[in-house]
Amino acid sequence: MQNLILDTIFQRRSIRKYADQPVEPEKLDLLLKAAMASPTAMNCKPWEFVVVTDPEKLAQFRKRLIFGNRNAPAAIVVCGNPSLSANPAARLFWQQDCSLAGENILIAAAGLGLGTVWIGIHPVSEFVRVVREIIGLPKHVKPLGLIYVGYPAEEKPARTQYDEKRVHMEAYGKKKAS
Ligand SMILES: Cc1cc2nc3c(=O)[nH]c(=O)nc-3n(C[C@H](O)[C@H](O)[C@H](O)COP(=O)(O)O)c2cc1C
Repeated sequence: MQNLILDTIFQRRSIRKYADQPVEPEKLDLLLKAAMASPTAMNCKPWEFVVVTDPEKLAQFRKRLIFGNRNAPAAIVVCGNPSLSANPAARLFWQQDCSLAGENILIAAAGLGLGTVWIGIHPVSEFVRVVREIIGLPKHVKPLGLIYVGYPAEEKPARTQYDEKRVHMEAYGKKKAS
């Protein structure tokens, strides 16, 4: 069955080589709109996003994040700010809220012909410290992950990693009848 959204989900791959071409500001705005369309616990929206296109800051990320040495022309740091959640119970879910927003960015970027890769930041305290320093984050705002964004300079095949062994039907350990 052909389906544009499913095809885009399968096409999204981590891109680690980027063309020397900036991302149009309108496309970055669309990615942020996609992020802020995601669901959050009690609709508390505890996210904030720092868009970075300054070559000096990007060079700092490349130099100081050992798993983040990628030549993208832009990055979006997905941050959690639990104090934005009016409801104390909802504050507990900031990582899930921000992860869903991040995934929306990855899928939307694939749909726009852009490549992305998620660089995990939280909960590694050294990565958190480095990102805080580079973009001047206050203590109460937590960087969950950094998404590099740019035009791909490598191709990867669309795929799922579907594995029937990971699927249980109705109760753990029960398998689909074949
Ligand atoms: C929480 C998380 C942290 C990740 N951290 C990094 C990272 O530091 N550097 C990197 O190159 N890729 C990172 N990735 C990307 C994964 O390596 C990648 O998603 C995985 O290998 C599957 O490949 P695919 O994205 O092409 O499907 C991370 C992904 C997630 C979800």
